[in-house]
Amino acid sequence: MKNLLKILSLLTIAGFILTACEGPMGPQGPAGTNGTNGTNGTNGKDGVDANETCKLCHNKTTVEAVAIEFEHSLHATGEAFERGTSNSCAPCHSQKGFLNVVSKSTPATFTGPDGSGKYTNDYIAEASVLALPGPISCFTCHSSLHTTYAGTEFSPLATTAAVKMTMWGAAKEINFTKTTGNLCAKCHQPRPVTAASGNVIDYAKLVSEPTATYALSTLGYRTGVHYGAQGAMAAGTGGIEFTGTAYTQSEHVAKASCDMCHMATPSGLAGGHSFSSVGNFNGCATSGCHSSTTSAKDLYTSAKTDINTLLTSLEDEINAISPANGDILQVEDDGTYHGYLSIYDPNSNPDGNYKNPGSTSSWTQAQKDINTAKPAMVLTNAQFGAILNYQLVYRGGGAGVHNKPYMKTLLENTLAAI
Ligand code: HEC
Ligand code: HEC
Ligand code: HEC
Ligand code: HEC
Ligand code: HEC
Repeated sequence: MKNLLKILSLLTIAGFILTACEGPMGPQGPAGTNGTNGTNGTNGKDGVDANETCKLCHNKTTVEAVAIEFEHSLHATGEAFERGTSNSCAPCHSQKGFLNVVSKSTPATFTGPDGSGKYTNDYIAEASVLALPGPISCFTCHSSLHTTYAGTEFSPLATTAAVKMTMWGAAKEINFTKTTGNLCAKCHQPRPVTAASGNVIDYAKLVSEPTATYALSTLGYRTGVHYGAQGAMAAGTGGIEFTGTAYTQSEHVAKASCDMCHMATPSGLAGGHSFSSVGNFNGCATSGCHSSTTSAKDLYTSAKTDINTLLTSLEDEINAISPANGDILQVEDDGTYHGYLSIYDPNSNPDGNYKNPGSTSSWTQAQKDINTAKPAMVLTNAQFGAILNYQLVYRGGGAGVHNKPYMKTLLENTLAAI
């Protein structure tokens, strides 16, 4: 609304300037013939009076009401868009980058090897959209807005197509039955772990050759699947699926979608276009799936307890891999673990327990000495897979609520494998 006022007043000022610059008036010309009235287009978009259609959206109950909800969203308040100047971050951290990969159908594959054996990740935004990236806004998801200024342009959404997973180099996909979820999963999906060649690692080997040593040279503090694991966990795909108990799916996979729970009728500071579901169980009951918000909340609480118990067991197992050298996962100031590796980095992780196997050429001699004195982190393929699964579940949002059966089996089979 602030923007609208700004632009309308700019237009008014521009009008004054044009008037002020007008020269002396010429003689009056002959009167023209009257034009015919414009006709409305048949699709309800063309030919309608623009000023009239503005009001269909620009009113207190539509754009203005939703804009207030949106101000409570991390989509609006987060610092995400600052990452949009980088081609590999822009597909999810900038409006322009997102709409670029959507409109170009940018593949989630890797290309290579080139002459020097290197691979490149194809899932990047084009250079032309990287300068001054925009934050996520109404126009990110409702990409048809202001095309013909018709009142119906909240639809279609920017994309609801199946999402080829970047973590898996397009070998797996997320595809919700209720396809609105695919819009969210396009960004809320895990990212690939890459080898020194730049290629995505062969995750299948983490399962098929569990006792082999995992190649160390690419390990770092931030190694892993990034933060948007929710799409994969909610869809029940993309984990390192160790064998054991058969994987099953929550009813949520086919019957719910991100928006049913995260954009439910608002309550407190959640729901609607805040995209938050914290403490708001309205979606569970209005969808006709759960008998009441209370019963749904109880189920959520117990699922969360079950998953967090398993997650803590896995955390303990991972940290006990090399007892003499200390935790494998980096402990946070409050004593919790968030899936980062305890690998030394003078800038991002000065407290790391283990040696950084990467390039240290930009470090001071003192930093190099600290690094050399630390033990190497030695992991088997299965142990590395366990760390990825830890990250997927920890960052997968809301503990068990997204897909308890899948997350539970993933954790149990992982615990049995390491
Ligand atoms: C289908 C609904 C819809 C229609 C029709 C519509 N708008 Fe908008 N407009 C929006 C939304 C949504 C926003 C973004 C609001 C926000 O960011 O809070 C917006 C924003 C704006 C802005 C602020 C600048 C910007 O682009 O973000 C202006 C100016 C504006 N609209 C003018 C108009 C005018 C003039 C018309 C009629 C010719 C019109 N709109 C018709 C939905 C609509
Ligand atoms: C263009 C990419 C993109 C799309 C599309 C998108 N998100 Fe997000 N979302 C993000 C990013 C990036 C953040 C983190 C923002 C930050 O921290 O600065 C985020 C944050 C969130 C958060 C807050 C997370 C937290 O840690 O509190 C929720 C909840 C959320 N999104 C849900 C959704 C839902 C539901 C949809 C679909 C209706 C959706 N998102 C669509 C990129 C996206
Ligand atoms: C495939 C989509 C995707 C790509 C590509 C991506 N991110 Fe993200 N990122 C997300 C989502 C989604 C979130 C928010 C998850 C949440 O809040 O639950 C996020 C969150 C973050 C956060 C906030 C983490 C926190 O502690 O809350 C940072 C920082 C970040 N990303 C940096 C980057 C950088 C840097 C790049 C590029 C090198 C990048 N991201 C590429 C999807 C992506
Ligand atoms: C992260 C994606 C996302 C963003 C950002 C977003 N929306 Fe939405 N919006 C949705 C989804 C998903 C729906 C549900 C659409 C559906 O089910 O077809 C929706 C529905 C709506 C509707 C109801 C449309 C209808 O046809 O009944 C309105 C109005 C709306 N949004 C306005 C806005 C406005 C205004 C903004 C910016 C302040 C905004 N949206 C930002 C995803 C988004
Ligand atoms: C069955 C309902 C449901 C579905 C479906 C669902 N979520 Fe959630 N989600 C929740 C609940 C409940 C939480 C936990 C909120 C809390 O912390 O209390 C949550 C947590 C999250 C979080 C962590 C931040 C937050 O708000 O706490 C993100 C991000 C998220 N979900 C994104 C998604 C995305 C993206 C999808 C679709 C791919 C999705 N969710 C599908 C209910 C759902």
